[in-house]
Amino acid sequence: MTDKKAQLLVDGKTIDLPMYSGTVGPDVIDVRSLVSEGLFTYDPGFVSTAACESAITYIDGGKGVLLHRGYAIDDLAENSDYLELCHLLLHGELPTKEESEAFRATVRNHTMVHDQVNQFFRGFRRDAHPMAIMCGVVGALSAFYHDSMDITEAQDREIAGFRLIAKMPTIAAMCYKYSIGQPFMYPNNDLGYAENFLHMMFSTPAGDVKFDPAIVRAMDRIFMLHADHEQNASTSTVRLAGSTGANPFACIASGIAALWGPAHGGANEAVLSMLNEIGDVANIDEFVAKAKDKNDPFRLMGFGHRVYKNFDPRAKVMRETCEEVLSVLGLENDPLLKIAKRLEQIALEDEYFIARKLYPNVDFYSGIILKAIGIPESMFTVIFAMSRTIGWFAHWNEMVSENYRIGRPRQLYKGYDKRDYPA
Ligand code: CMC
Repeated sequence: MTDKKAQLLVDGKTIDLPMYSGTVGPDVIDVRSLVSEGLFTYDPGFVSTAACESAITYIDGGKGVLLHRGYAIDDLAENSDYLELCHLLLHGELPTKEESEAFRATVRNHTMVHDQVNQFFRGFRRDAHPMAIMCGVVGALSAFYHDSMDITEAQDREIAGFRLIAKMPTIAAMCYKYSIGQPFMYPNNDLGYAENFLHMMFSTPAGDVKFDPAIVRAMDRIFMLHADHEQNASTSTVRLAGSTGANPFACIASGIAALWGPAHGGANEAVLSMLNEIGDVANIDEFVAKAKDKNDPFRLMGFGHRVYKNFDPRAKVMRETCEEVLSVLGLENDPLLKIAKRLEQIALEDEYFIARKLYPNVDFYSGIILKAIGIPESMFTVIFAMSRTIGWFAHWNEMVSENYRIGRPRQLYKGYDKRDYPA
């Protein structure tokens, strides 16, 4: 609570509304009492609405700042790794050396999925999109861990978190293997988290594929940079589903569904489709003109962000990682990647993009890195989903450990008033 309060004048009546200050960031006006005045607030797209209190992640979109539990994302990307970040998001602090070892060992304990999960895959068409498979299979995990799970018990929630962190790469790689008709690869617990994922994606029972440490590091960074992003569409979906007391695996499946769209996590896949459609550096101007044309629905995928109106700090790190990966793989002259670099340059210099503060976002560069590593486009959003699972879970856990109410937005009704059934 602050000393400040807001006053709302409605039809001559003044309504006092309390205000609260966060640690940093804008103050919020508590509008909860408005319902007793017969009033709702109207905020489609939730642009001005804080739906919860949280201590996990802070974003200042104007300054291009992203903090997890107070640590800047670029600092974490430089000095930490994905599993440490998972610990930080879940427990609020970076792990000590011993805690880190114990955390990694527990994750390793849970990397395999129940053998019956394999049967779920068989129900999907062989050409099903891996996101469709992932959404279904993660939802199906709730069938394996339902009766044994009491969401009011911190220990049960912790085990659910470990299961999700450990099994998501296994499931993601299984989605890929199924879609290309190769046998599933079991996890190899001698490998680190990111390397194990690459192993399950690219090795076959006939032979192991080894990766340059720079590629493994890039993969881990992609996981880190997608790990959490405050109350975005998919995280809010997980919170809303979770507010009903639903099984956490089912809640995570709802987050995967929300992430799939091209305005959210589907953007990294859409970036590559767009680059393919552009086809040649010579066609870039035409596509930039389309993006600027108000009568054309086309948008430059991988540009712009609802919150960042300055360079996305994740995009900065991703850009550096992208340069490194392209140089390690000797792909600086790849035609598609040439289009990407030229597009980035043009958009950064174009008045339309400058005026609207439309910078390349994290998905622009992550799409390029994943393509360079040899990961197919249909897997891009799946990788985003597996990385974001810890963020979704941390938010769900934060909500469930506190007093929470079922989420129930209201509406501005514009339909018919009561009318009689036609005689
Ligand atoms: N290309 C061309 N014009 C754009 C673009 C774009 N990518 N993004 C926004 N604009 C224009 C938009 O037409 C509008 O122009 P005007 O003011 O003249 O009407 C102005 O910029 C503001 O756009 P908006 O639609 O009000 O912005 P928003 O905050 O509602 O949308 C966005 C944010 C990310 C959905 C949007 O920028 C977009 O569609 N970008 C492309 C898809 C994309 O890359 N999404 C990934 C986001 S990052 C990953 C994540 O966090 O999920």
